[in-house]
Amino acid sequence: MALPDLAAIESDARRDLAAAADAPALDDWRTRYLGRKGILTALLRGLSDLPQADRPAIGQGANQLKRALEAALTERQQERRRAETEAQAPAATSIDVTLPARPHPQGQLHPVTLTRRAMERVFREMGFDVVEGPEVEWDTYNFDRLRVPRDHPARDMWDTIWIDPESPEDPAAPLAQPAPRRLLRTHTSPMQIRYLEAHQPPIRVVVPGTCYRYEATDAAHEWMLTQIEGLVIDENISFPHLKGTLESFVHRFLGPGLETRFRCDYFPFVEPGAELSIRWGDRWLEMLGAGMVHPEIIEAAGLDPERYTGFAFGMGVERFAMLRYGIEDIRNFYQNDLRFLQQFRGVS
Ligand code: PHE
Repeated sequence: MALPDLAAIESDARRDLAAAADAPALDDWRTRYLGRKGILTALLRGLSDLPQADRPAIGQGANQLKRALEAALTERQQERRRAETEAQAPAATSIDVTLPARPHPQGQLHPVTLTRRAMERVFREMGFDVVEGPEVEWDTYNFDRLRVPRDHPARDMWDTIWIDPESPEDPAAPLAQPAPRRLLRTHTSPMQIRYLEAHQPPIRVVVPGTCYRYEATDAAHEWMLTQIEGLVIDENISFPHLKGTLESFVHRFLGPGLETRFRCDYFPFVEPGAELSIRWGDRWLEMLGAGMVHPEIIEAAGLDPERYTGFAFGMGVERFAMLRYGIEDIRNFYQNDLRFLQQFRGVS
């Protein structure tokens, strides 16, 4: 019987291994050469058929070849896995570590935030405290206690985003008090009531905050807006204090040359009520509502309205930002267009 040609087996095996391109082909190769019925197993099993003298050399050679082929298979499998990973993540291999670093763009404050903070600074200089209040508010604070009763047409002045649904009317108890409902505050005025609950005059406070209205938008109106509420209560406060304070604020904040205009306006929680507009090119931009705090509100706070009087105002921060930066359309503020927002980098 001819002796097995180990060298020929090895060169066949290595050639076939190099040609096996994927996992199934490698598996086939392993079965063919190293499997239970494979060529090398058969060879080792057949040793006993060989002449006695040849057995040790052939046996040793066959075992060596088996180990060598197992090692070659392992290496080929690893090589294939590496190639697969690289094919799946081409980007990872294309990073050029020699490129110079580029700074990641830094965040920055929103123009409305910049404006709100600058307005707060001016009010602090003028002797006001700054406090904040809840954006989710009870209708009692947002409306009723500001003299805007349920079912009164004045409620239609503020299109409202409700959080709690309206409770169904109970025909058996038509006079029952309806349950309080929560809403997204439509203005910062509820903080007049909250502040009066907790503080005694003299009061001089501003309340910045976000408000929400269920409203169609245009160049001067957004459904989300920022207000700064103001409340001043003391003895001997009269309408000229209101005018003087607001004019002084406008001129400190936007410059002394601006033309302002007061006109009568109506808000249920003030008497008399006014609005202040600023000339902007050939039109007037309404900047705030204001008025003398209604005596019933002062009385409801436990104060004597004969002794204490005061004024309140609610400013639109976006409107002030428009004038401050020369922005034509209020809708720019909340569209999150980076081309708009990045113009305020480095601006204070
Ligand atoms: N809260 C009113 C509004 O949002 C503005 C206002 C505040 C008017 C204080 C008078 C006094 O329209």
